[in-house]
Amino acid sequence: ARPKVVICRHLGPAMPLLQDRKDIEVVLWPEDRSCERSWLLDNIRGAAGVLVLLGDKVNEELLEAAGPNLRVVSTMSVGYEHIDLPLMARRKIRVGYTPDVLTEADLSVMLALMAGRNDGAAYSLVRNGDWAKPKFAWSPFTFCGPQLSATPSSPTRTVGFLGFGRIAQATLARLIPFGITHCLYAGSPSSRPDTARDAALQATHKLKVLERVDADRLARESDVLFVLTPGGTETYHLVDAAFLRKMKPMSVLINTSRGSVVDSDALATALREKWIWGAGLDVVEGEPLITEDHPLVKEPQCVMVPHIGSATFQTRLDMATRAINNLYGGLFGEDMPAELGRQ
Ligand code: GLV
Ligand code: GLV
Repeated sequence: ARPKVVICRHLGPAMPLLQDRKDIEVVLWPEDRSCERSWLLDNIRGAAGVLVLLGDKVNEELLEAAGPNLRVVSTMSVGYEHIDLPLMARRKIRVGYTPDVLTEADLSVMLALMAGRNDGAAYSLVRNGDWAKPKFAWSPFTFCGPQLSATPSSPTRTVGFLGFGRIAQATLARLIPFGITHCLYAGSPSSRPDTARDAALQATHKLKVLERVDADRLARESDVLFVLTPGGTETYHLVDAAFLRKMKPMSVLINTSRGSVVDSDALATALREKWIWGAGLDVVEGEPLITEDHPLVKEPQCVMVPHIGSATFQTRLDMATRAINNLYGGLFGEDMPAELGRQ
């Protein structure tokens, strides 16, 4: 019999790559919204493969429902917080993902610019029709904030990275034209120092400082701090109240990785009590159930967008294509373009 695969979301222009294959049976979630858990649990029985998005938890319950045929899980995401990797290893189920999505780096820079300059509040003001009010006419210090770029009067801007993998390094590269000369980073707890890589990066970008530091120094010295760790238990709430209290009052925190790394309540307090200047978030704990009464949505100096780090047409098509090719690799015992645990 042809192997059955369950696809948790219509993949737009990439769909022919699945539908044109005659050697598989495709079961597709039929609606244009997140796949319902009950539908997935019902339909995965007997499947050999499943293609998931980051809202679809791949855990004991799902494997239980699938039964013993399941041999590949392919996620259309660079992150894998939703997948129980130790469990997959124990069951010998191969896992594909879609790394090299560096558009998060573009969004990280955008959020750093917006958060530093109060652009979220400024844009809302225009949309609300308040620009015409005398109070909001051009004025010397309205909507001012710390700037990202170095200037003659403020030549040293230190960027910090919590997590220093591919996306962090791509973000750093995009910041060099802003006159950034100092970069600090703290690796994820399980990452190892890589002095050769760091020396090469420092030379490439002509940085005065590129240093791996502990979380304490990272918090104290960063002007702009980017959170770019994988998520999961190892990085849960690395940015908590104690961390935020050490940050500079004019600093900006950007999170484009996983909501779980930043304690939302602590961040809301930090913004309200001005421990830090601003925040830019693409991800938030508890997303997507974020409504207008969320404490971070109410903070004017918090710019928030709904997890759109990889949202460009090219990138999403590349991700969908790669996820489908990973699925085939796993189904037919071939190489997968990007397999977790096997780089
Ligand atoms: C997005 O967050 C992804 O993991 O691709
Ligand atoms: C990964 O997050 C790293 O620190 O290199």
